[in-house]
Amino acid sequence: MINIAVLGYGTVGSGVIEVLNKNGESINERANKEIKVKYVLDLRDFPGDPVQELIVHDYNTIVNDPEVQIIVEVMGGVNPAYSFVKEALEKGKSVCTSNKELVAKHGAELLALAKEKKVNFLFEASVGGGIPIIRPLNQSLTADEIQEITGILNGTTNYILTKMTNEGLEFNEVLKEAQERGYAERNPEADIEGYDACRKIAILTSLAYGMQVDYEDIYTEGITKITDADIKYAKALNASIKILGTSKKNGDKVFAMVAPMLINSEHPLYSVNDVFNAIFVKGNVLGDVMFYGRGAGKLPTASAVVADVVDAAKHVGTNIMTIWSSKKLRLSDIKEYNT
Ligand code: HSE
Repeated sequence: MINIAVLGYGTVGSGVIEVLNKNGESINERANKEIKVKYVLDLRDFPGDPVQELIVHDYNTIVNDPEVQIIVEVMGGVNPAYSFVKEALEKGKSVCTSNKELVAKHGAELLALAKEKKVNFLFEASVGGGIPIIRPLNQSLTADEIQEITGILNGTTNYILTKMTNEGLEFNEVLKEAQERGYAERNPEADIEGYDACRKIAILTSLAYGMQVDYEDIYTEGITKITDADIKYAKALNASIKILGTSKKNGDKVFAMVAPMLINSEHPLYSVNDVFNAIFVKGNVLGDVMFYGRGAGKLPTASAVVADVVDAAKHVGTNIMTIWSSKKLRLSDIKEYNT
């Protein structure tokens, strides 16, 4: 048996419990162990919810319990997630997280710590919601030099742009709907200003090129300046507006940015609508490979988190993630990159 603790009983945390309840039997078979949730950390109480008997309010109860081997961090935000995760790894517990801010900012350090302690720091859900992209980059595309990663990396903005384009709905109305559906961040500014996509392309870039990218170095533009007129022009050109994150490598030059772009109707990303995300990866021997699926939402995100829990349970005592250097990767601007 393997005891886990879930930090945060919000959208993703409650999804994790739901997935474990729904598919527990096959999950345990795949992990070759019974996965049991021993604690759920939340500031709130949930009277009437079966999870109530697992609720604790003090992280020390969890991190000092030697029976807890895996910690699921789905609180979001850097604080206190960073100190909680660091302490868990230091105490020899694996951590599975959906927290892109945490991974983008402290990924190099936490991966190295996990390696030193022979545990795992896994973060499949931090990019692309339910789409497998971290594991492929870490395990399946390792024969290639990665030349480019480009994709629709934010479900909320893709949902907003799709509804504005296809149904003529107002920005604020659709944002509210995306929040109700559990797609948007607690502070939706992160979605609509492109910061969320920026953190995700920073994570993919760090993982692909083996060095920590400072996401603040990435040129980032969201969708707040897009007007109805822009959407009409795009339609007239038989195109649609998508916010893309892209990262390219040419020799020792790396370029990365997040911005809205016009996609013509023949491009495969044109039909990636609603909450769906899609990510192209170009390898120097493989060529293009594309990953597609639900980029946000409770159960798709929880599916990726629980898959990490299964991996951590299968690899107790063995570190499976490639680390990246904490040395900062210098990004070129577009002019330098193109010369
Ligand atoms: N707010 C994020 C999005 C959630 O809309 O894509 C998934 O990372």
